[in-house]
Amino acid sequence: MTVIPKIELHLHIEGAAPPAFIRGLAQEKGLNLEGVFNDDGSYRFENFNQFLSVYEAACTVLTGPEEFGRLTTAVLEQSIEQGVIYTEAFLSPDFCGGGDVGAWREYMIAMQEAAAKLPEIDMRGIVTCIRHFGPEQAKTAALCAAETAGDFITGFGMGGDEMVGAQGDYAYSYDMAREAGLRLTTHAGEWGGAASVWQALRDLKVERIGHGVNSIEDPALVDHLAEHQIVLEVCPGSNVALGVYPDWQSHPIEKLRERGVPVTVSTDDPPFFHTTLSREYDLLADTFGWDDEVVRDVNVAAAKAAFCDAATREKLLKQLEPTS
Ligand code: ADE
Ligand code: ZN
Repeated sequence: MTVIPKIELHLHIEGAAPPAFIRGLAQEKGLNLEGVFNDDGSYRFENFNQFLSVYEAACTVLTGPEEFGRLTTAVLEQSIEQGVIYTEAFLSPDFCGGGDVGAWREYMIAMQEAAAKLPEIDMRGIVTCIRHFGPEQAKTAALCAAETAGDFITGFGMGGDEMVGAQGDYAYSYDMAREAGLRLTTHAGEWGGAASVWQALRDLKVERIGHGVNSIEDPALVDHLAEHQIVLEVCPGSNVALGVYPDWQSHPIEKLRERGVPVTVSTDDPPFFHTTLSREYDLLADTFGWDDEVVRDVNVAAAKAAFCDAATREKLLKQLEPTS
């Protein structure tokens, strides 16, 4: 059996924290995380809003750069086990120093140093603002991004509750990030319908879309994505776990791919959704018959869309070449 290396473009660093890691830190610090875990130790939520609350509660135990360094090591070790050779992680200054640039720089350095110790995987950071924290707070995240843009911080994005405000409310932050040379993505069309994706493209001028799966509702949008080769960071297991789609069979990833939209596959927040990148591909094979050729094509699309330098992209594309 061939093992195809994997490229992951959509992974929230805190969302990838193993529950045992968060529990361990809570115990070390004597913090009470009531309501965060089920009896079996998994994260506890029944809908997207609860997911966001539990996520933010879990983040309260991550209070310093050293902890984010340890978290980065734990997350990347999990990714390496899944055959991931390149990952882009969403990093939130809101959880790393509260938006203060000096503090954020310390957190960023800790994560960059942790990543540099693992030669099996390349990591880049996408600084992320959180939509339901509002446009003013987003500007502090954008400033952190702009001030640390470079080899490691290569992108700017937005997560959080897509039903709060409009994509365009964050245009100032996106303009700031763009002017600093950062590449742009945003969560759109996970909950907000096709209209949210159109707004993201028009108002934020992003080049990739986080999720984007609701695009399937608008044939003109699907044509637009295919024509302009706008890459979707699709996270099917996340969508099914959060109830965006009732089951894998109903998930639109294959319809989008068949219509020529460049789709990529990521896990979003894997322990929250009881998933791994290998499981995502296994279920795509079981549900839609994805074979090695499709998996390779999808990962080549991801390598081409990665927010990295040309030399890294060449290296990744080489690793994706069939060996026989
Ligand atoms: N933050 C972490 N996971 C997210 C998701 N699936 N949607 C929006 N924001 C998130
Ligand atoms: Zn996400």
